[in-house]
Amino acid sequence: MSEHGERRPERKFDPARADQLDAPERDSYLPDAPLVELLELRGEETVVDYGAGTGRLAIAVRAALGTGGRVIAVDESDEMVARLSARIAAANAQVETVKIAANHVPEPDGTADRVLAVNMLHEVHSERALEEIARLLRPDGLLLVADWERGRDSERALGPPDEIIYSEDGAAAELEQAGFEVERHPLALRAGRPAAGVIGRQPPPSRRGACNQAATASS
Ligand SMILES: C[S@@+](CC[C@H](N)C(=O)[O-])C[C@H]1O[C@@H](n2cnc3c(N)ncnc32)[C@H](O)[C@@H]1O
Repeated sequence: MSEHGERRPERKFDPARADQLDAPERDSYLPDAPLVELLELRGEETVVDYGAGTGRLAIAVRAALGTGGRVIAVDESDEMVARLSARIAAANAQVETVKIAANHVPEPDGTADRVLAVNMLHEVHSERALEEIARLLRPDGLLLVADWERGRDSERALGPPDEIIYSEDGAAAELEQAGFEVERHPLALRAGRPAAGVIGRQPPPSRRGACNQAATASS
């Protein structure tokens, strides 16, 4: 339980460590800019930051969008949403913050052109987060997942234990299982990164059946 009485499973981020998300040294292992670049933004997109934490990436994404763009930063933790809202207000950023529960985002199907899920996939293991993300994404929309990668650096001081994180293959399989077409971007992030970069594209309706059959066959 956190100091504010929030009970969370062990795999979930401890809000007491929130300062680590904003630490300047994060730039040495998971810099914002290549992640924003991988979102392939043109400026008018709606982007959902799923598990937004303190809003570091939501603010970076907002800066890459024009006035027609929209950023919706969602998180399930009361404490993190309080931090998120304070940080967004301090930055005077046009980012909507939404506290969600049980992986339900109160937006219509197909709202999002892009969804960003950074250091989050391992936390939603066995939940229905990817299904909700698939619902939110428009056809051909893009989900960018970057997460700590199992087996990459057992000596690292930061991040969750290896037992609860995914290998890159495991992360890709989770996305395929949820019906995404998967691309891997291991070289897009800086060398030495403790992260796997996986992009899932929401297939257009014409390809969706085939993709789901492949997912079923591999399960
Ligand atoms: C390790 S933090 C990463 C925060 C942010 N993405 C970043 O990279 O700075 C993971 C965040 O995901 C949130 N989270 C975990 N499971 C979630 C869920 N099912 N729905 C929404 N947020 C979730 C946690 O509360 C936490 O703030």
